Amino acid sequence: MTSSLRRPLLAGNWKMNLTLSQSVDLARTVAEAAGSASGEVALCVPFTAIAAVGAALKGSSVRLGAQDLYWEASGAYTGEVSAPMLVDAGCAMVVVGHSERRKLFGEGDEWVNKKTAAALKAGLTPIVCIGETLDERESQKTWRVLETQIAGGLKGFAPADLSRAVIAYEPVWAIGTGKTASPAQAQEAHLFVRGQLKKLYGEGLAQGMRILYGGSVTADNADSLMAQPDVDGALVGGASLKAESFLRIMRFQRA
Ligand code: PGA
Repeated sequence: MTSSLRRPLLAGNWKMNLTLSQSVDLARTVAEAAGSASGEVALCVPFTAIAAVGAALKGSSVRLGAQDLYWEASGAYTGEVSAPMLVDAGCAMVVVGHSERRKLFGEGDEWVNKKTAAALKAGLTPIVCIGETLDERESQKTWRVLETQIAGGLKGFAPADLSRAVIAYEPVWAIGTGKTASPAQAQEAHLFVRGQLKKLYGEGLAQGMRILYGGSVTADNADSLMAQPDVDGALVGGASLKAESFLRIMRFQRA
């Protein structure tokens, strides 16, 4: 069983989807169901929906999150949104270094590191995404890629500061493809990630830090993924856009 130290986290990543009224409807439904969830629940929503979703979640235990941030606190950075701005808008969490940002917007580990630092400094929980491409997996580079992403993205923190952070292992080949990592593949990678955390920051931090799985998590496969001892939750894209599937994932049962 997953260590009782680590409360499961079920986080929806809405990506660039939903109108404001759809967002509010879905957030209300999730908030109403949060009492029966098998762990902590969060919704990471587009910047434009933060205020409306925050209002819809008010009084519930569902945490509000964003999908990206910029590392400076304020200034002439047209188009960017800072960590203190996200806190001011009611966010508790923020996704950092999602593979879509790495691939489509050229983000590297150095940026991930700066964004993670800014999130932690502002009191946000960063959900730091890592994961290998299909090419990298097929050429046996998975462990090297994960090691590099962890070492680069999580460089230079005090263990006490980093303890709030969450890692999301999201194999790029599984994101939005309907190809999920098998529970055994997920467990193997999560164990490797925890080992890297131990190497960098010690046993206490490694055992306490939540490592989410992401990549085609659905209502049908959530139970078997969550049954793995080092899978501490899920970062859910497509299946978080529909109440029916996300509520079922929120109520996962360890098989
Ligand atoms: P998916 O996305 O569940 O649609 O595969 C997961 C993610 O990108 O976080």
